Amino acid sequence: MKVFLAGGRGRVGSPLADNLEAKGIEVVPGGLEDGIDVFSGRGLAEALVGVDAIVNVLNTPRFDAEGAIAFFEGAVENLTAAGERAGVRLHVVLSIVGVGEGDASEIGYYLGKVAQEKAVRAGSIPATIIRSTQFQSYIPVLADQHTVDGKVRAPRVFIQPVELEEVVELLAEAVTTLEPGSVVEIAGPERFYLDDLFRATLAERGDEREVVTVGGQEMPGAMVPRGMYRAGTVRYPIAGIPLA
Ligand SMILES: NC(=O)c1ccc[n+]([C@@H]2O[C@H](COP(=O)([O-])OP(=O)(O)OC[C@H]3O[C@@H](n4cnc5c(N)ncnc54)[C@H](OP(=O)(O)O)[C@@H]3O)[C@@H](O)[C@H]2O)c1
Repeated sequence: MKVFLAGGRGRVGSPLADNLEAKGIEVVPGGLEDGIDVFSGRGLAEALVGVDAIVNVLNTPRFDAEGAIAFFEGAVENLTAAGERAGVRLHVVLSIVGVGEGDASEIGYYLGKVAQEKAVRAGSIPATIIRSTQFQSYIPVLADQHTVDGKVRAPRVFIQPVELEEVVELLAEAVTTLEPGSVVEIAGPERFYLDDLFRATLAERGDEREVVTVGGQEMPGAMVPRGMYRAGTVRYPIAGIPLA
C-alpha cells in the first residue's frame, strides 16, 4: 500500500509517517520541503502516481477566515482532482472537534476546518474524517496564542487534551482498517478547565506569565467532543490539576 502524506513533515505528519512505515506502508511525503505545493497543485500529479490513499495533515499559519478557508478548501480540491486522476481510493483528513458548532463557528481558522471537511465530503474520493481535540504537547503553544501584553488570557471553558501518538494511531487505522466514510472523534481521558490547565503547564515550565481568567467569547467551547468519541488513555503529563 502507498500513502501520499500531505504535510508529511509537520507535527502530526512526521510521527504518522514513522507509524505507517512501521506497518509496512510506503509513504510519499508531500510538503513544501519535498517540492510539492498542495495549494497551487505543483508536483501533485507526479507524486500521486500509484498512490492508494491520501492523508491530509496540512496546516496554515493563516488564522483569518478568508486565508484559512482558501487554504484548507483549495488544498482538498487540488488533492481530490489530482487524486481522482491517479485512481486514489481514500482521502483521510484530520480536523478538530466542535468546529462549526456554537461559538466555534465564529473563529476564522475553524471556518477553514469546516470548509475542509465540506470539501472532502463533497469530493469524488471516499473520505474519512478524524476530529481530534488539542494535542497535550500543543498546550504551551495554545497559551502563547492567548497571550496579550505578557498575560495569558483564558476563559474558564472545558478542554480535553489528547496525546499526539494516540491521534497518530487513529489516523493510521483510518488508512488501514476504518470503513471509508467514517467520522471519528478522539479526546484525552481527562477534562480540565482551560485556565487551570494553562496555570499548571506554565508553572511546571517555570514560565512566570500570569494567567488571567476572562469571561466572554474569546475562546469557543469547542475543545471537547459532544457525542461518542474514542477516549485516549494517556493522562496529561502534570499531576494534580483539578478535573472539570
Ligand atoms: N495542534 C493541535 O492541537 C491540533 C488538534 C487537532 C487537529 N489539528 C490539525 O492537525 C493538522 C496538522 O497540524 P500540525 O500541527 O501537524 O501542522 P504543522 O506542524 O504546521 O505542519 C503542517 C505541514 O503542512 C505542510 N504545508 C503547509 N503548506 C503547504 C503547501 N502549500 N503544500 C504542501 N505542504 C504544505 C508543511 O510543510 P513544510 O514543513 O514543508 O512547510 C507542514 O509539513 C492541522 O490541520 C490542524 O488543524 C491540530
